Amino acid sequence: MATPRILVTRRWPQEVERVLAARFDATLNESDRPLTEAELAAALKDFDAVLPTVSDQLPAAVFDQKGIRTKILGNFGVGFNHIDVSAARAAGVAVTNTPGVLTDCTADIALTLMLMVARRAGEGERQLRAGEWQGWRPTHMLGSALGGKTLGIIGMGRIGKATARRAHFGFGMAIVFYNRSTVDDEETRAMKARQLTLIDEVMGASDFISLHCPGGAENRHLIDAQRLGLMKPGGFLINTARGDVVDTEALVEALRSRSIAGAGLDVYEGEPSIPAGLTDIENVVLLPHLGSATAETRRAMGMKVVDNVTAFFDGRDPPDRVA
Ligand code: DGY
Repeated sequence: MATPRILVTRRWPQEVERVLAARFDATLNESDRPLTEAELAAALKDFDAVLPTVSDQLPAAVFDQKGIRTKILGNFGVGFNHIDVSAARAAGVAVTNTPGVLTDCTADIALTLMLMVARRAGEGERQLRAGEWQGWRPTHMLGSALGGKTLGIIGMGRIGKATARRAHFGFGMAIVFYNRSTVDDEETRAMKARQLTLIDEVMGASDFISLHCPGGAENRHLIDAQRLGLMKPGGFLINTARGDVVDTEALVEALRSRSIAGAGLDVYEGEPSIPAGLTDIENVVLLPHLGSATAETRRAMGMKVVDNVTAFFDGRDPPDRVA
């Protein structure tokens, strides 16, 4: 078989690009310019494999064409809600993702956001940089402690558990959670984490809510005005999952009216544009989708894609096939 032609849609860590270039007939994106939907659709006709990432959009329309040459989308990222997987499957295109290697990294960012928003770190830094800090005083910028509080996890998968572990063993937090299926393993028992039946119950029982469920149509606006209204007045919402899981308009309203104390966000509806209203609110910490952004993790994600695509073209089952 001829060396497979592959397209890497964005700049990847250098060492991974080197492996791809040695193993495949690889077209790299040296300028790192995001490809349009039309360019991605055209690529499906030209390449044996396309390696997209979470910021590329591959809806059903891109698979609705004749002459698709692509046999596999090796996605750089664990989330794949930007790919219409049923349309890909129907067009005979396999899809893989990169689970496992970004668990700790993303849980670290969830804890970063919890600490930043509860201890008002963003506000404090803005005040200091603006030259407005008037020195130490007993009532200056008082925040909330994590210790002794309850963390509610929505989606107790790998990242949910890693976040709960840090919060419980590191900060002495009690854990409650919602998960569609029953989770009853040694680790969850060791944390004395309590599974509640309804999301609404978790919303009401927690001082911090951290979202760890997939994005996409199924979970769109899972956290809406009604559920935000169930949160404690001193509660904090943390989102490192996907922007569309939260109704942003409702969140902006809850933050403005202080019906909740604050939010920490790493992901947004329609990112990279930031929904109106968020940037001028003080009690929200905003990060630019940094969940998996360490050199170690991004390299590991890239190497997972290499393994998936290599297995596929060697005629083996790709380890992380999702469609
Ligand atoms: C993913 O892999 O889905 C993450 O959102 C990237 O940080």
